[in-house]
Amino acid sequence: MGVADLADYPWDAVAPYAERARRHPAGIIDLSIGSPVDPTPEVVAEALRDASDAHAYPQTAGTPALREAVADWYARRRGVPGLTAAHVLPTVGSKELVALLPLLLGLGPGDAVVHPRAAYPTYEVGARLVGAEPVASDDPSSWPAHTRLVWINSPGNPDGRVLSAVELAAAVARARELGAVLASDECYAELGWDAPWDAARVPSVLDPQVVGDDLTGVLSVYSLSKQSNLAGYRAAFLAGDPTLVERLLTGRKHLGLIPPAPVQRAMTVALGDDAHVEEQRARYAQRRSLLKPAVEAAGFRIDHSEGGLYLWATEGRDAWDSMERLADLGILAGPGHFYGSHFPQHVRFSLTATDERIAAAAERLTP
Ligand SMILES: Cc1ncc(COP(=O)(O)O)c(C=O)c1O
Repeated sequence: MGVADLADYPWDAVAPYAERARRHPAGIIDLSIGSPVDPTPEVVAEALRDASDAHAYPQTAGTPALREAVADWYARRRGVPGLTAAHVLPTVGSKELVALLPLLLGLGPGDAVVHPRAAYPTYEVGARLVGAEPVASDDPSSWPAHTRLVWINSPGNPDGRVLSAVELAAAVARARELGAVLASDECYAELGWDAPWDAARVPSVLDPQVVGDDLTGVLSVYSLSKQSNLAGYRAAFLAGDPTLVERLLTGRKHLGLIPPAPVQRAMTVALGDDAHVEEQRARYAQRRSLLKPAVEAAGFRIDHSEGGLYLWATEGRDAWDSMERLADLGILAGPGHFYGSHFPQHVRFSLTATDERIAAAAERLTP
């Protein structure tokens, strides 16, 4: 299978519901996509502007300043001390890395790529791209013997599930038993909501509580799209096993997968500034506190969603029926069908809408 054989982009199926929602007299409230709506922090935008003279090719490995900023950030925000430039690598947003990791690791037919049952679709896309077998499973004991790559995602998209250090350690142990790489997609890590994650840090797979001092076969993947409203900059990175990082760097050099120099500068500044992250987190907390009770009042049960940017909800019937009911309220959600085959009765509500739109959604949902 090649890129040309990938299925039509599934969001086209939502178009009729969007059209229906747009007919609401007070307008559509689009909660279907996790695309940030708040401004890029001024300190970051200024760093990008200041770096606009970018006549030379940027470094695939990232500038020394960026690599140091990533390592410092892991120590300060993620409880992962001791990383160096050799442990980290910037990416052009994280979606390309998610899609290309099986290719960069040399996987192919006969190999399995495990991903969560409720999953960001790109894990499966990456497996299919190289002819590997995607396997949806959250139970390490059932991961097959031919597994070569495992994706975990905490807090999860779409389900907001947060994995504890104990659960992460079990995943790492099983991946090592299988000789598989374990990649942990942690892009919502700053957004823990329900106890204990309102006060405790959402653990990284690189936390010494999870891996001790052995990073073999383990990667943490992070993105600034959500925490810093930088989705349009395409700014992300990975960290972990330096042998793997070196291999990925070589492949990425050949493919030209290089974050633009001004973006590398902007990322460096974003990673050094915690204030804007706190501010953004507070915005999402406020929106969630309005939307969550309203979704429940409308008759949905919310599952997990203890962290991350979404409410993962069901009213016990097919998601397309829920989509229709919501469209009549002028609200667009995302159907569970888009996140694998295991949750056809769930819908995903994103917290990425303005305060005004979230308040309007809460009002329309509350009977
Ligand atoms: C779980 C997960 N991983 C990766 C991404 C990709 O983010 P980006 O490419 O903006 O870094 C997303 C975006 O929604 C996501 O939800």
